Amino acid sequence: MTPGQVSRPVTGTPHIAARPGDFAPIVLMPGDPRRARRIAETFLQDARQVTDVRGILGYTGSHRGVSMSVLASGMGIPSVTIYATELFRHYGVRRIVRVGTAGAIPASVSVRDVVIASAAHTDSSLSRVLIDGVTLALAPSYRLLRAAADAAEKEPTAVHIGPVFSSDHFYLDRPALFDALERRGTLAVEMEAAGLYAVACAEGAEALAVLTVSDHLRTGEALTAEERETDFDRTLRIAASALLTDV
Ligand code: HPA
Repeated sequence: MTPGQVSRPVTGTPHIAARPGDFAPIVLMPGDPRRARRIAETFLQDARQVTDVRGILGYTGSHRGVSMSVLASGMGIPSVTIYATELFRHYGVRRIVRVGTAGAIPASVSVRDVVIASAAHTDSSLSRVLIDGVTLALAPSYRLLRAAADAAEKEPTAVHIGPVFSSDHFYLDRPALFDALERRGTLAVEMEAAGLYAVACAEGAEALAVLTVSDHLRTGEALTAEERETDFDRTLRIAASALLTDV
């Protein structure tokens, strides 16, 4: 190997050990690998595991008769951009919908509500380093956003559509920052949507983030582990409807 070359496993990419064709073109992407396994067991039919590098579990099965995969993203923008890039570039994936959790910012958004991210602000350098001199607007696929909004109308839960803040810092003790974001209509904070949107845009693919509100930044209210599971199902239904639109 000459200097600068990256060693590659015989099958797969540096971070995914699947063979070509192992992933469906449409992929659900939770952060947590155990949630990926649970989605495979309870939401997909006939799912088989296709990768487990670094404990990041991926499965392919079907949903409503259409081939669908699930792959965990891990936490944060660096992690999600690695998996999304490798899926789009090397596995023929065309659509990824992140299914995750978020912390609500304004009082108008409650724990258990769903937030569909129509834009993602970020404190990551990613929006500035991709094109020199430009701060990129990080946004989802309009087609997926519209399909998710339509699917959300069938759900009894409150669904909010608007900007989220994808932070590089979970333990960010800056109340004034959240006040400023709230004044600009930001609904929730999470840690991956901006990275996923940036990669999808660069790779000519489609992405969306559908989030369950698991905690509230202002009140400190938070879902229990059990509530996270049941409330997550609505997010999954909305995300799958978006993935299946026009396929
Ligand atoms: N901050 C960042 N990410 C999150 C949060 C939060 O409060 N809640 C769920 N994901």
